[in-house]
Amino acid sequence: MTSVQKLPEVAKAKDTSKREIKVYRLFYPQIAVIIASGTKDRVEAVAINSVISGSSHPARVVFAMKKEAAILPIVRERRSFSVNWMDSRFVKSVDFLGFQREGNPKDKIKAAGLTWLPGNTTGTPMVSEAAATLECSLDQVFPLDDSDLVVGRVVSTRASGDFSEYWRFKTYKPLIYFGAAPGKKVGRYVLFPYRR
Ligand SMILES: Cc1cc2nc3c(=O)[nH]c(=O)nc-3n(C[C@H](O)[C@H](O)[C@H](O)COP(=O)(O)O)c2cc1C
Repeated sequence: MTSVQKLPEVAKAKDTSKREIKVYRLFYPQIAVIIASGTKDRVEAVAINSVISGSSHPARVVFAMKKEAAILPIVRERRSFSVNWMDSRFVKSVDFLGFQREGNPKDKIKAAGLTWLPGNTTGTPMVSEAAATLECSLDQVFPLDDSDLVVGRVVSTRASGDFSEYWRFKTYKPLIYFGAAPGKKVGRYVLFPYRR
């Protein structure tokens, strides 16, 4: 007769029935990217991990953003945004755009120590240091209680030589995010060693 054994991790797992689980944390680790939008007078940028490919023909992207995020009204007004894949050497800039923003700088990309150029079609800020960038026009926003699900249509793409059909991971080392350090306003990431 076949017997079913409990895996040790399952056996050890604590009973969660009496405490609320932050479900989104079960999805970690995920790749950290920067979403940016705005004009030269006001540039908003934020670190996110919730981005996915929504459809292939036409190419769409989808991300979830908490409702109070300062970037959402700018995305609605400009009807455009960019998605920027950052190499792990830019961890400080990404973490700054996720947690450590002080004051309200007019140009968040600059405040994070990065630079940008306007996208050809929409003028939306595209991070120059990114390993790849998608320029998107706003398609739809679905309100989901405390968050908004933002859908964009890809209007132009840019990728470094490391990407050819797939990533080769020769120069691009993805920034993998494990969530905030418990009790601290700082993220945990995989950092790849670089040869000088
Ligand atoms: C790597 C990383 C990924 C994040 N991903 C998301 C996300 O997908 N959705 C979200 O709402 N917030 C996410 N956050 C938190 C936001 O970046 C953070 O709340 C942001 O600074 C919002 O600031 P604002 O409300 O001033 O715009 C992430 C933070 C980090 C560091």
